[in-house]
Amino acid sequence: MVRVLSCIQPSGDVHLGNYLGALRNWVHGQHRAEVFHGIVDLHALTATDRPGVLGDHTLRLAAVLFAVGLDPDVATVFVQSHVPEHAQLGWVMECTVSFGELSRMTQFKDKSERRDFVSAGLFTYPALQAADILLYDAQEVPVGDDQRQHIEITRDVAIRFNGRFGETFVVPKAVTPPVGARVMDLQDPTSKMSKSSAGTAGTVYLTDDPSDIDKKFRRAVTDSRAEVTYDREAQPGVANLLDILAAATGDDPRRLAGSYQQYGQLKKDTGDAVVAMLAPIQQRYRDLLEDRAELGRLLRIGADRARGVAATTLSRAYGAIGLLPPS
Ligand code: TYM
Repeated sequence: MVRVLSCIQPSGDVHLGNYLGALRNWVHGQHRAEVFHGIVDLHALTATDRPGVLGDHTLRLAAVLFAVGLDPDVATVFVQSHVPEHAQLGWVMECTVSFGELSRMTQFKDKSERRDFVSAGLFTYPALQAADILLYDAQEVPVGDDQRQHIEITRDVAIRFNGRFGETFVVPKAVTPPVGARVMDLQDPTSKMSKSSAGTAGTVYLTDDPSDIDKKFRRAVTDSRAEVTYDREAQPGVANLLDILAAATGDDPRRLAGSYQQYGQLKKDTGDAVVAMLAPIQQRYRDLLEDRAELGRLLRIGADRARGVAATTLSRAYGAIGLLPPS
């Protein structure tokens, strides 16, 4: 059976890009593969210094993951800090990846430019991400487009480690959806929708009220061409709406472009489609959050299952290197 691993940071509220680019694919994956999904709180430390918030974000994110449809009976959902093997293999990966490789990561360049304090962890972030993936012998990593470079570096370090120490890790590949792999900001359609956007008007959160979602789409930035074509270069705002509408309805963005003359109708239909898609998720999310003890129980089960796999891979890696086992 195919093994799938992917993770998300509890660094803010989940948005439409996370859902269409990644989470929806995770849910589809659980019926054809053995799937592991991590809430990577240690990664989120690179952006958090406020005490107390990370735990709450982690629990809310767990509720989102079950609300979008991950089934705890078949999908292993766990918190990264509950599985210490991530940090342990992370160090091994730091010693396998080079300074030059890390320096070329575009996410590091983007994020470090926007911060006063740039931690060493932000720089070595991809090494921990490689550990997340390699610990589970994952063949496939379902992600949005922005993670491609991180999966490439994971492949490179796996191949390097295997070359140095003998076949140890499965070399994974990124899997992105045909539409929705790069959802753009509604106010600035040349930037991706992100948890860290300047304002919230361009980001649609999974927990937004229907009226807010409607408003955000009606105010989406388009252009002054007054024609609907699917052209990401010339009409990024319109193309983004078409992508979102296509992803929400299972249609094709080019075909949809032919059925619209006016931006107003396209914005309204896209907002309506997103509201309809999110309604059942929002209901389940509210229900799940009512029982935090149950969420905690599900995460404990997830961590146990994850550790079962991760511990075996870590000792295989330590053994391949030739670290002295404790006697
Ligand atoms: P994160 O938490 O930023 O995002 C989670 C997932 O959402 C996707 N995504 C998007 N997809 C389409 N359009 C967008 N605008 C958009 N924004 C985000 C991301 O591609 C991702 O799939 N480094 C990772 C977390 C991570 C990870 C891993 C992922 C840590 N270890 C191991 C995969 C495997 C991150 O920051 O994702």
